[in-house]
Order: sequence, then C-alpha cells, then structure tokens
Amino acid sequence: MGIIENKKSKTLTLHTKHSSYQMKIGNLDYLLHLYYGPSICDTDMSYQIMQYDRGFSGNPYESRDVRTFSLDAQPQEFSTQQQGDFRTTSIEIVNGDGSYSYNGKTAGYKISKGKYQLETLPCVFANKQDTADTLIVTLSDVVSNVQVELLYGVFEEADVITRAVKVVNKGDKPIHLKKIMSTCLDFLNGANFDLVSLPGRYGQERQVERQHMTHHIHTIGSVRGSSSHQQNPFVVLCDRETTEDYGKCYGFSLMYSGNFLAEVELDQYDQLRLVMGINPKQFVYELKPGETFEGPEVVMAFSEHGFTGLSHLYHDFYRTNLCKSKFVSDVMRPVLINSWEAAFMDFDDVKLIKIARAAKDMGVDLLVMDDGWFGKRDDDNSGLGDWFVNEEKIRCGLRKLVEQINDLGMKFGIWFEPEMVSEDSDLYRAHPDWAMEIPGRRGVRSRNQMALDMSRKDVQDYLIKQINDILDEANIYYVKWDINRSLSDIWSNKLPETKQGEVYHRYILGLYRVMDAIILTHPDILFEGCSGGGGRYDPAMLHYYPQYWVSDNTNPIDRLKLHYGTSFVYPTCTMGAHISDNGKYIPLETKAVVAMCGTFGYELDATHLTDEERAICKEQSDRFRKYYHILFTGDYYRLTNPFESGNMTAWQHVTKDKSESLLSVVVTNLTCNGPQEYIRVKGLEPEAMYRINDGEAVYSGAALMNAGLPINREISEYTSFQFYLARQKR
Ligand code: GLA
Repeated sequence: MGIIENKKSKTLTLHTKHSSYQMKIGNLDYLLHLYYGPSICDTDMSYQIMQYDRGFSGNPYESRDVRTFSLDAQPQEFSTQQQGDFRTTSIEIVNGDGSYSYNGKTAGYKISKGKYQLETLPCVFANKQDTADTLIVTLSDVVSNVQVELLYGVFEEADVITRAVKVVNKGDKPIHLKKIMSTCLDFLNGANFDLVSLPGRYGQERQVERQHMTHHIHTIGSVRGSSSHQQNPFVVLCDRETTEDYGKCYGFSLMYSGNFLAEVELDQYDQLRLVMGINPKQFVYELKPGETFEGPEVVMAFSEHGFTGLSHLYHDFYRTNLCKSKFVSDVMRPVLINSWEAAFMDFDDVKLIKIARAAKDMGVDLLVMDDGWFGKRDDDNSGLGDWFVNEEKIRCGLRKLVEQINDLGMKFGIWFEPEMVSEDSDLYRAHPDWAMEIPGRRGVRSRNQMALDMSRKDVQDYLIKQINDILDEANIYYVKWDINRSLSDIWSNKLPETKQGEVYHRYILGLYRVMDAIILTHPDILFEGCSGGGGRYDPAMLHYYPQYWVSDNTNPIDRLKLHYGTSFVYPTCTMGAHISDNGKYIPLETKAVVAMCGTFGYELDATHLTDEERAICKEQSDRFRKYYHILFTGDYYRLTNPFESGNMTAWQHVTKDKSESLLSVVVTNLTCNGPQEYIRVKGLEPEAMYRINDGEAVYSGAALMNAGLPINREISEYTSFQFYLARQKR
C-alpha cells in the first residue's frame, strides 16, 4: 500500500518507489503539508514545522492566545482565503451570504485500493499490473457547509502522484466558485528554486524557458479557451543546480485542455507555493445546494536525476496510463501522407488517388484527406460545420474513394474541425445561435471562423451524429481532429446571464463529451490531435489521441527545438512529425531523421518526386518500421540542447533492456576548420560491447558514453547521421 496513515502523529504519507509525500492533520484540524521529495522511509516530518509569532500574520480565532500559529506561515495542502493566509489561494468562493470566507478543516479521510476516476473529466488510469491507491481527504467549512475533497492517486512503481479536487455544496444556499485549483504544494525552504516552462507561439510551440524564483507570484497560463501554443499546462520546479542529468526536479502536468493557470509564489519567508488548475479569469461557477464541481487532475512526478529522469517518468507513465487506444502499443502506427501541404484545398478524388499511388511507392501506409473535402470549402472563408462530402470534388463519393485507396493496399484518413463554424455555411444559416457571439456585439473572427458553443447539448449531439455518420459511411482508419482559433466572445445562448462565467469550462466539458462519443466508440480508428499545429497539445487531449501534430512548422531545423521542448513531458511516440517541402536546402535524409523522432510521415505532393526520390522515401519508411520498437518503447535522451549555441543537435532512443539504441545527429552549424565533435551517448550498459550500424566497429558502452562517437566533419551543413547500436552477445 502506497498510503500510510499514522494515527498517533496524525500524518498521511504517500510513498512511491523513490519519492514520499506527507501531510498532517495539524493544529485545529488544518491540513498541513509536510514534505514532497526523495523517500523519507517512515519519518514523521512534523519536526520541520516551526511556529513563531509573525507580525501581520494573524491567528485563527480558536488559537488567539497562541500567537504562533498562522496560516500565513504554515505549509498547507489547500490554501484558503480570509483565514489569515495572504499568499495565493487554492479556492476563492462567494458564499450564499455574500462573504468570501472559506475555512476548510479536515473532516475525515478515506484510503482505498485502486485509482479514483473523475466523472466529468479525463484522467489517468491504473492498469492491471499497477499498484495504485487513492486517498480522499475531506475539508469542511462548518459555517457554509461547503466541502472540498482533495483526491490523491498514488502510483507506486511509476513514481507518480496525481491530485484532483471536488467542491460539494452541502449548504442550503447557492455559492459561486471564482477560483478552484487542483493542486497546492508548499515548500518550506523555497529560496533555491527555478521554474521551467514551455512557452511558444504558432509555429514555435513549447520552447524551453527557465527562470529563478523571486519574491512575487510567477504565473504561467492561458486564457485562449485552449491550453494554447503560447504556454503549455506543464511546469517544472527544480533546484538552481539541476541540469539535464543531475539534480532534483518536480513536474506538474495538468490534464485540462482549456484555460489553465499555474502560480508560483516565493513568499516573505522564502517559502514557495505552487498552485495549478483552471484559470480563474472570466470564471465564475455557480453551485446550487447539492451540486458538485470537479477540478482537473494534476500529474506530479519527482526525480533526483535531472530533467532526463523527470521526462522518463512522464514518458513511461503517459505511454501506459493515459490513453486506451490500441495504437498506443498493440498496433503499429501507419506511415502516412497528408494532403495539406501537397494540395491545400485544391484537390479532387482523381488528384488524391494520384498522390496515394505515388505514395505507395514510398512505403506509405495511409493517405489523409485534409481540410477541403466537405461543404463549400475552396478556401478558409466558408464551409466549416457542414460535415458532408462535397461531391463536386469527391465526385465518386466518399465510400468509393476510400475503396479505391484501399484497393491500392493503403488505408484512408480524414480531417475534421468539429468545434468551428463558418458564417458562410449551411450550419450557421440554420443555427446562428449555435455560434459563440455576445448579443448586440459582433464577435472577433479568426481565420474568418467562429467557435460553436460546445457547452450546448444540441450542438454536441449534432456533431456526434454528423461525424459518426461519416466515420461509419466508409472504411476510415485515421482521423485528424483540428481546432484553428483561440476562443473569444464567450457566450452561450442556452445559459442565463448569471451563468456566462461557466461557459469556458462548460465548453471543455462539452468537447470531452463529444470526444467520448466519437473517439471511444471508434476504437479501431487512429485519432491525431491538432490545433494549428500543436496549440492544444496537453495530456487531456492525449487521453483521447495517441498522437498530436507538433507544429505546422515542418522545417526540420526548427523542429529540433520543437521536439526538444515537447519531449520534456510528452513521449516522442505522441509527436506528429512529417517530411515536407519546407527547407528546400535541407537534405531529404535529414528531414527523415528528424521526422523519425516522432510518428513519421509525409506532407508533400508525392507526384512531384522523382522515381529516385520515391525510392529513397521507401527506404526511410522501411527504416522507421525497422526501428519502431526502439523509437516507440525505448527511453529517449536529449543529448544536446538546440537552444544553446552548438554545432549539432543529437538525441537517442534506447530499448528498455539496453540491447539496441538509435542515435540521431543533425549538424546545424559547421565552423570552418573547427574542433572535432564527439557525441557521448547515454543509457547503455557500460560493460557490454555495441556494434555500430551493423558494421565492423564494436565499442563498449562505457567508451561510447564517456568518450563518445566522433562525428565526421567533412560534410556539408544540415547533414545528419543515424547510428544503430546493437549490443553483442557475450
Ligand atoms: C491547421 C493544421 C494543418 C491543416 C490546416 C487545415 O492549420 O495544423 O495541418 O490541417 O489546419 O486547414
């Protein structure tokens, strides 16, 4: 059991293989946080807590003669408001009587086997072989009768702890939630922390940024209605000394696809608090008596082995405990060719078949018909929402088209952007009230499109029916699910004025309902997520799709940074990566090496390639399939940092048993007559001998890891290398 209760010390300890997390029912039944970090065995960490009379930090009423207990200076599991803690809060509530107070004290707890699930939101699950346990601690405010349930999932072997939150209004008046954070983590000694986050923009998602914590609240978040290109719902807190390979780090990954917020506050006493959850901006949620609100899950992991150690924990966990699609591990992902950069919206059935035929010679398994096949859609000004086949383009009809592709021995995939509507569409003409726009105001257009009000059940039902009908009409193997704008003009015609502050969140709940009803009912279809590239690349989306399009930027040199940043939390087997015409000056081989860091495919007009180029592509597709087991199930190492000035970017995949490895190197900069570069690999068995590229050369793991492999510098810029390392029998 990963959860230990000690009735004497009133502590509850969560143990994973290498980490411990402890809380205590402390003074006056306040739930105090004692520890998170490397395993502490059975130590009662209460001794860490010192209590002083701190000026301007008030004391709860019951302890007024004792001036040394103040929530302002105590580490807590769930920070509250109006109780003398002036740091950032986990909850902001307006009670039925109009007051803003929440005084949550421990009212009980329950430990059970297995992992809790949420009713309205996706979350991670335990597999049969996992040891997983659940702790639920209930906090209660005796005046308002509002209960907060803190949910903890402990995955012992995986070294992961999850947290989520529920608010139950057991009072007799409606309350309004203005802020509800899913996790709150206090560090007593927080002066030495750095915060790592993944900021970006369209075309340059998840770049890596690191900052020292100073005495204010640092915020990372999104108010775009989706988790966004600009920030990712993942942050790391680490020691200032932490590097790629060494040092302590804590990861926080939020399973939510809408507005999110992470706040990190270094307080007056150098204590550090992190809270993470739904972004409170433009969020007000009414809870009537008897109603419950669920906050999304945060997946937390701790490693003492630097960013690599932390990434490995997330990669392993997200590969096995996040998505139930059979394509996660049972079925090999197809090598696909996508029509977007080949033809944009200018295609018909004949052109698609020509592309498929040419792609067949490249070893491609699947043709994806991207945007432009439905309604009236010759450019991006019209058609969204009309999910029926445009028979002026697909003259033979969808079923016949798919049959013809299948006859070539290829599979077929299709693109949707379910959440959007064009003003120039039959759907908008029939249901203008389904699009989000505030009455009396004209809403912001983005790519000349509007967002559907996904909080409405009738909208959800329409999408479920329309899309399921298409998926059931023909033999569809793959779906790309896109969303191409940030949300604004948040309004639902179905909700009263007083509930408009719920729309952002209800949109996401509606989206998850639609995804449940389409994706989970089509277990044989491979779904890939997309949002103008990687604008909603988050774990909640990866609960549904085993892969996500990293970026619309397919330039392989830019992709080095994109893959590097994305890999901090997301396994490379989730990263949609294709070879395209982008980067004419970059060799086809380098494009392939970079795309093999992800799901591998093509995004170009195959009919424009020469026979010789197609033969090269065929060898690349075969190579991807040959190394698939290393790339999709192995450990991934970032060997160099493309954000630092260096001459090459290198990364490596190593099978779990260390018997095989694939080392990839791209030369990004060649200084004239410069020094020799050596790439030192990682993760091998030091005493074992490894054969390089099935050739004569055999070196020990120790040599390869300590001295490295020299990279030939008599080459041109943007050359790449792939080294296959095979452990030799003893
Ligand atoms: C987004 C996607 C692209 C493509 C277009 C189609 O930008 O990221 O890959 O599907 O939409 O409109």
